[in-house]
This record gives sequence, structure tokens and C-alpha cells, in this order.
Amino acid sequence: LKILVLNGPNLNLLGTREPEIYGSETLQSIESDLRACAEALGGVEIEFFQSNAESDLITRIGETRGNFDGIIINPAALTHTSLGVADAIKAVADAVPSVEVHLSNTHAREEIRHKSLTAPGCIGQLMGFKGYGYVLALQALVKHLRSSR
Ligand code: DQA
Repeated sequence: LKILVLNGPNLNLLGTREPEIYGSETLQSIESDLRACAEALGGVEIEFFQSNAESDLITRIGETRGNFDGIIINPAALTHTSLGVADAIKAVADAVPSVEVHLSNTHAREEIRHKSLTAPGCIGQLMGFKGYGYVLALQALVKHLRSSR
């Protein structure tokens, strides 16, 4: 199985970015935990990508059909603002299911973060477990893919 892991704006700053909210793990350390999880699951390959640009993320999602089996995405602030990212997730959802991840529990934060435009196109959402959420999302997505094909 090939899984694309996408990270949106400012997630390149993890480690020093508001650690009381997001934890002190860097994106590189989340990536290596995820690679270890993929290895342990067996037969799972991951590609990891971060961008601060909405268009890069939309393009990467649109290119997944036929190339990836699933997507794990933390759209970051774009979660609450981007119809474009939401539409891209839905555009490939019939062939490439997505799981949404957030480090923080966005429901316990400012009201503007309570709504996700992107979650309705995803098979599920995980939040509040800091970097470990990505590992949980990978396990859940692989289980979903293996039981649905
Ligand atoms: C986030 C939550 C968003 O509200 C915020 O804009 C982020 C990170 C999270 O992982 O908790 O950048 O997606």
C-alpha cells in the first residue's frame, strides 16, 4: 500500500511552534515514527510532504489517483478555510480515501477552529494526540484499506 502523508502551513515549524499546544516533536521526528509504524505494519510505503502553499497541497491530492492507496492529511489552518483542499479530497475519495489528523484538539480551542471544511470528505478524523495521531491514523487507514479490498 502506498500512503501519501500531507502537512499544511506552518507544520514545518513544529518543535518550536507553540509547543504547549502542538507538542515539542518536530515534523521530522513524526515522519520517522510514521516510517517505523509503516515498517512494522509491513507492505506499507509512505511519502511525506509539507507545504505552506495551498496550491501545492491541492495539486498533490489531485495527483494521487492511480498512484496512492490513501492519504493522511493535516491541512493545518487550511482545515478551516480551504474549499479548494476540501474539494480535492472529495475529487479523489472514491479511489483514494483520506484520514484527517490534528495535533491539538481543535474543539477545545477558538471557535473558528471548531469547523473543518475538509473532514466531511475524509473517512475519519483523529485529533488531540499530538504527533502520535499520525501513527494512529496510519494504523486506522491501513486497516480500512485491507478490509475494504
Ligand atoms: C492544526 C490545528 C489548526 O487549527 C491549526 O491552524 C494548525 C494545526 C493541528 O494539527 O492541531 O496549524 O491542524
